[in-house]
Amino acid sequence: MKTVVMTGGTAGFGAVAAKRIFDTPDTRLILGARDHKNSLIETLPLDLSRLSNVRSFVQSLTKKLDGAKIDSLIMNAGAQFGNTRHRTGDGFESTFAINHLAHYLMLRMLTPSLAKNATIVITTSDVHDPTVVPFGPKELNPEALAHPKDKGKGFMPGIKAYASSKLSNLLTARAFGASPDAQTNGMRVIAYNPGLTSGTALFRAWPWWAKLMMGVASKLRSVNTVEQAGYAIADLGLGTIVPPSGRLYASLVKGKLTWPDTSELAQSDTAMRGLWVESAQMVGLPEEA
Ligand SMILES: NC(=O)c1ccc[n+]([C@@H]2O[C@H](COP(=O)([O-])OP(=O)(O)OC[C@H]3O[C@@H](n4cnc5c(N)ncnc54)[C@H](OP(=O)(O)O)[C@@H]3O)[C@@H](O)[C@H]2O)c1
Repeated sequence: MKTVVMTGGTAGFGAVAAKRIFDTPDTRLILGARDHKNSLIETLPLDLSRLSNVRSFVQSLTKKLDGAKIDSLIMNAGAQFGNTRHRTGDGFESTFAINHLAHYLMLRMLTPSLAKNATIVITTSDVHDPTVVPFGPKELNPEALAHPKDKGKGFMPGIKAYASSKLSNLLTARAFGASPDAQTNGMRVIAYNPGLTSGTALFRAWPWWAKLMMGVASKLRSVNTVEQAGYAIADLGLGTIVPPSGRLYASLVKGKLTWPDTSELAQSDTAMRGLWVESAQMVGLPEEA
């Protein structure tokens, strides 16, 4: 029996992935989610906007696992806001806190529960790359992302915060992949970019004009379906699709998985290490386990 733990399995392409994993023989899926949504899937309460909630999720999960190890950890939940005015109960800007910090804490706390040869998938986005979208981050300052000094007005700061949170997901995947835990235990770490995927709830907080522009852009760019994006992340998590040697960034283009280079900043060891250390301080953990 394979045990898969997943966030972001209740909506969008994550729900498609969760169903595919749930339907896979000899596989136990446990979701962390805000709402059970009357699903047959085992679900534990998890609100990523509170670090205390991440800690209690890990506690209940560990109890539920009763010594069993996690074969696959899929961290797919994510949110976008129309600006950077939102703060979590812990006082962090919400995009950075939900998309990055909460998943960082979860990964750190669940590391002892990961099986030897476990697979870890973290959902990122190609918007982490300024050569793909003009608002992609050209620098990374974790403290400024956690506590932005601007007034948080307007759409551009919001979308930039989202792009930086997705860069943070990618850097976390790289840092964990390079860690002694992952290296000595033969773990497989993947940063998954579903590409622009239509029909999800991700863009609900956008202003009407941005949704209109997105509609036009999606006519010009290739757009993936929720089925394509959901099947791809499920197959990566289940190990049905395996990265080519030395590749970590899986990018879905026209429904097909590709393994391109990441942005230059995502390849920076200084940015990677800096984010890891500052995130540890923010969530109250030591730098190393
Ligand atoms: N759609 C795209 O074009 C696209 C492109 C690149 C990357 N992505 C990434 O793909 C992932 C899935 O996005 P999607 O497009 O499928 O969006 P979606 O339909 O909005 O789904 C987001 C998922 O994250 C969960 N979530 C959000 N905030 C949460 C919180 N505070 N606590 C716990 N769970 C929370 C949602 O749970 P609820 O059901 O409770 O809302 C839902 O399951 C995200 O990481 C997103 O950044 C999407």
